[in-house]
Amino acid sequence: MPTIVVLGGTGPEGFGLALRWVRSGETVIIGSRDAARAREAATKIQAAVGSNAKVSGEENGAACAAADLLVLAIPFEAHAALLKHIKPAIRPGSIVIDATVPLAASVGGRATRTLGVWQGSAAQQTAELVPQGVSVVAASHNTSAEVLNSDASVDCDVIVCSDDTTATQTVRTLATKIPGVRAIDGGKLENARILEQITALLIGLNIRHKGHSGIRITGLPEKAYEVL
Ligand SMILES: NC(=O)c1ccc[n+]([C@@H]2O[C@H](COP(=O)([O-])OP(=O)(O)OC[C@H]3O[C@@H](n4cnc5c(N)ncnc54)[C@H](OP(=O)(O)O)[C@@H]3O)[C@@H](O)[C@H]2O)c1
Repeated sequence: MPTIVVLGGTGPEGFGLALRWVRSGETVIIGSRDAARAREAATKIQAAVGSNAKVSGEENGAACAAADLLVLAIPFEAHAALLKHIKPAIRPGSIVIDATVPLAASVGGRATRTLGVWQGSAAQQTAELVPQGVSVVAASHNTSAEVLNSDASVDCDVIVCSDDTTATQTVRTLATKIPGVRAIDGGKLENARILEQITALLIGLNIRHKGHSGIRITGLPEKAYEVL
């Protein structure tokens, strides 16, 4: 895979994704508003994975300028401002994977509810804010940070939605680098609104039952779960 930039890689979700991808041998750049914080997170991953780990840290804009596969793992309140900040640095032809969930907690509400986003979802908002020719893919909304940051197999399917079918395949391949994950083509980017809402449901289930829930999609032909 090409080098992966994880914006928000200092937070639990981005850090967990970065950790898993570095463990699988991928090269990752952690992005942060603060380059020192990004490097600190990279050092932690290096310590956990060992001397073969290919990981570094950069300020968000510098990180985007260095690679073509970007992951947004930031709180919704930071979403539009961060995208405006990185827009000039995003390289033509890049893929932006959006795992952001517009939780009502972003505006002081509950984490078990989502906000209405004018464009339909956070991922569709991203599609409006990136330069032309950049593909947006919604994925990884339902993988628990707690589980990603453990050594356990991740008992969760990743549903991947995009209007660019080639980008969908790239992201499915990337998602399945995480042990336990199956990555399923979930159709158009507009389906991201449903993925984002499922996370709010999972948060409610985690509170009610004191766990770290994920989702599994059953009943599809084997081919739907296969990544070539
Ligand atoms: N946690 C989960 O289990 C989980 C599961 C699935 C999806 N998600 C979604 O993934 C996203 C990240 O989740 P998280 O729990 O890791 O979030 P988080 O800890 O709240 O934030 C992640 C990182 O975003 C950066 N950030 C925070 N406020 C910012 C701002 N105003 N402007 C720019 N950057 C800012 C921070 O990095 P710096 O301070 O280093 O810049 C922070 O470490 C959220 O949208 C969440 O809903 C989370």
